[in-house]
Amino acid sequence: MNIHGFLVLAALLSVTSTQFVPPFTEDCRTNMYPPNGPTLRGPVGWYTVDLDLPPTKRWTEVITDKKNDLVAMVQAIKDLADAFVPSGRLIELVDITLPLMVETLPNPFKDEIKGIAAVSGVPLGEVVLFNVFYEVFTVCTSVVAEDEKGHLYHGRNLDFGLFMGWDAKNKSWTISEKLKPLVVNLDFKRKNQTVFKSTNFAGYVGMLTGIKPKAFTLTMNERFSLDGGYIGILEWILGQRDGMWMSFLTRSVLENAISYEEAKNQLAQTKLLAPAYFILGGNQTGQGCIITRSRLLSIDVLEIDLKLGRWYVLETNYDHWKEPFFLDDRRTPAMKCMNQTTQTNISLNALYDVLSTKPVLNKLTTYTTLMQVSEGKLESYIRDCPNPCMPW
Ligand SMILES: *[C@@H]1O[C@H](CO)[C@@H](O)[C@H](O)[C@H]1NC(C)=O
Ligand SMILES: *[C@@H]1O[C@H](CO)[C@@H](O)[C@H](O)[C@H]1NC(C)=O
Ligand SMILES: *[C@@H]1O[C@H](CO)[C@@H](O)[C@H](O)[C@H]1NC(C)=O
Ligand SMILES: *[C@@H]1O[C@H](CO)[C@@H](O)[C@H](O)[C@H]1NC(C)=O
Ligand SMILES: *[C@@H]1O[C@H](CO)[C@@H](O)[C@H](O)[C@H]1NC(C)=O
Repeated sequence: MNIHGFLVLAALLSVTSTQFVPPFTEDCRTNMYPPNGPTLRGPVGWYTVDLDLPPTKRWTEVITDKKNDLVAMVQAIKDLADAFVPSGRLIELVDITLPLMVETLPNPFKDEIKGIAAVSGVPLGEVVLFNVFYEVFTVCTSVVAEDEKGHLYHGRNLDFGLFMGWDAKNKSWTISEKLKPLVVNLDFKRKNQTVFKSTNFAGYVGMLTGIKPKAFTLTMNERFSLDGGYIGILEWILGQRDGMWMSFLTRSVLENAISYEEAKNQLAQTKLLAPAYFILGGNQTGQGCIITRSRLLSIDVLEIDLKLGRWYVLETNYDHWKEPFFLDDRRTPAMKCMNQTTQTNISLNALYDVLSTKPVLNKLTTYTTLMQVSEGKLESYIRDCPNPCMPW
């Protein structure tokens, strides 16, 4: 059992008031697309981020629209912190310490975060906290699959908020609920041309999900390990700053890499603050892989290999060569559904079915994104998981 297993076990204690039989699984869903019904909270709106603007101005439109939701989100984090360490001292620390930390972040991230704080009125330290948060707590399912014509499809569920305030009355995670209104689709442009597109949380400047049209698709999943993000972030605060923040790396790759191979090399070789899984899809047959990273290097790369019958690669939050923790096995149900679908019938619609099957869909799932590289297509949906449903 890894750190994530412990978190799940801890979470289990906090939700025992609710009745469910883990692991709650169901038959593979079919015909869920086009999305509708009780598992769909709603579609996701589009915004343009103009990379030709100075970093402090890039997020003005998004944040002006989402200001109230961002304030509510940050308040929810504060409430949790106060419940954890009463007296408000924790947030006091955040407000004093983290603004100093923003100066240590590389640009454009530093200036973008300052711009977000200025437009939203949320104190700078709390915007930094919001940005650091994802580096350590994202739980997900990602899959890249190739059809018989050599087209590549990439889908992901973004699950977030484990152990972040279980609301027993609503049977939901407080932070996951507060994140849903913040989900946005972003079209990053330079000279009025799309450079890349992404699904993101307003107020967050790194990338967890994105596509460079015609070239590659990329998602990141948290990899929990003892030598994890906490240590890397602590080192950063203490002044050792040679590692890169994971979601800053994914953003930089989406912005700057021009091909699958270049993206793969950058993701495999850049020193990181925390371990991670990068799930990368290319634009040609065989181009799909999971890069398992330690902070220093790539430990393993698992690629699509049609000769071996491996027409898809799928990652949750466990090393693919190890068994997932039995209370948190989203991999087996997801693979079962992929296998049932078969390569002949794989499509974005079929991926949506897989990602809509419990417990791949669970109470932490905030959004589902579907990407097709050849069409440059990215679409995403805010999700709900009606009872009975696994909390993670
Ligand atoms: C609980 O659910 C109700 C109805 O869906 C909603 O109005 C309310 O805001 C929720 N409460 C919290 C704390 O999320
Ligand atoms: C940017 O591109 C859109 C369509 O892609 C076009 O409608 C618009 O006029 C362009 N704007 C500028 C400033 O060139
Ligand atoms: C795939 O990506 C490479 C590198 O960006 C590009 O040169 C090539 O034209 C792309 N192929 C297709 C079919 O889009
Ligand atoms: C799915 O198929 C692969 C390849 O044949 C196999 O290794 C794997 O065990 C299958 N998984 C499930 C859950 O059916
Ligand atoms: C694939 O799709 C076809 C046409 O929709 C359907 O008849 C067939 O049963 C499907 N195959 C599998 C294995 O689901």
